[in-house]
Parts: sequence; structure tokens; C-alpha cells
Amino acid sequence: MKKIIAANWKNNGSKKFIKDYFDYFLKNLVSNNEIIIFPPDLYIDKLNHYRDKDNFNLGGQNMTYVCDDVTQTSGHSSDMFIDNGCNYILVGHSEVRGQYTACNEAAKSLYVSNDLQVIFCIGESADAKKNGNTQNVLIKQLEDLCKKGNYPKVNPKKVIVAYEPVWAIGTGNIPKIDDISFIHRFIKTYVSENHPFLKEKDIMVLYGGSVSLKNAQDILSARYVDGVLIGGASLDAEEFTKICNLKI
Ligand code: PGA
Repeated sequence: MKKIIAANWKNNGSKKFIKDYFDYFLKNLVSNNEIIIFPPDLYIDKLNHYRDKDNFNLGGQNMTYVCDDVTQTSGHSSDMFIDNGCNYILVGHSEVRGQYTACNEAAKSLYVSNDLQVIFCIGESADAKKNGNTQNVLIKQLEDLCKKGNYPKVNPKKVIVAYEPVWAIGTGNIPKIDDISFIHRFIKTYVSENHPFLKEKDIMVLYGGSVSLKNAQDILSARYVDGVLIGGASLDAEEFTKICNLKI
């Protein structure tokens, strides 16, 4: 089954790193999955030169939501990402939530264009998990996604949510596979019941947080998992390529 395999490079990379990475990646990629790489904005154009039809997709890591009549220093608009070859955008990652864009601000930037598919990141903190608040926290984050007024320009054809428990990011700890399935199902049910027009079949959920070659097959094979969002392990060209090549 075709899955989404996404690489979140965060603030890593250099021209030399990219050359070495793609020398390996393009030679060894034999994948039927949908691959997306999110490099730092400064390198998006550089990666775009390695694209060839459907070998991989490109995404931006954060988009500035700016009203039509406002200008913002350091902002990046959806048109700029599209102009540089992106067809995906990450919104609301926990490392920038509340820093560049508050969660509800991030949700306002959803679907400014159907050419740019949003991946909307959510996830509970370690404290929320410990206190049994995971579902309440996720509902609060998903509420923004489901508000009709948050689709200012176009109606999305589908929603992609990345479930990334904050306590799992970069720690080597992941939830039990059954717990991942349970939460993904919960997200699909909540969004389909509360979204103004999207149905369950239109809602995809990726898992993110310490995904590696060791656990990727198990996670990707779990029920209700449509793909993975990978940070640290995606910086190793060999490990990432092997994950891309997995057959589920
Ligand atoms: P990680 O990061 O795979 O290094 O845990 C995932 C993410 O932050 O998207």
C-alpha cells in the first residue's frame, strides 16, 4: 500500500550535504511511496533541481499567514513556496508552535491554495500524557482545523494531520504501536465528525517522533497510519532511502 514518507530536515543541511545526500538517494531509490522532503527554506530551490517527475515532492517548513493588506518582514507566502517547486507545507510543528505562528494562527493559513497541501502538526506534551489529557489536548488543536472560517480562499480536498507526541520527538521513545493506531483513529473520527465538509476517507494521519529504520516497518503497517514524518533519521541518506524503499 502506498504510504507518505516525509523528511523534516529542520535547520540542517549545506550545499555539500545536499550533493552527497542526493548522490546516494537518487541512485538507490526504488520506492512506490509518496516521498516528501522539507529542507530549510534557503535550500528548497537547490533540492528542486534534483526533482524528476515523481521521484520526490518538496515542502516548506513554515508559512507566514499574512492578510492581503499586511506586509511582514521575514515572511514567506504560499505563492513563493509554489514558485520554488513546493507542493506541501508543514504547519504548526511543535518546535515553532507559538513562536512564529500560534496554533490557531497556523490553522488560518490552511488551504490558501489547492496547489499547496498542508500537513497540520499536532501532539501532546509529556505532562499532558502523564495527566491523561492527550485527547483533550488533541481536540483543542484540531478545533482550529475544523473551523469553517479558517478556509479563507479554497476548500481543501483532503486533510493531512501529523500526530507527533512532543515527548517522542528526538528522544528515541515512541508510543506502543496499538496506541498510535488508537490515536490515529481518534483523529480521523474527530475530524470527520467536526469538519464542515471532509469525510473520513479524506483525512490522512502521519505519525512523527523518533521514527527510524528499526521501527518504520511496524509503524507504517499499523492500522490507520497513512505515513510517517521523520526528523533525525531523515538526515542519514542511507537510512532515509531504506525507509522510502519499504514495501507495506
Ligand atoms: P524526530 O523528529 O524524528 O527526530 O523525532 C520528528 C519531527 O520533529 O518532525
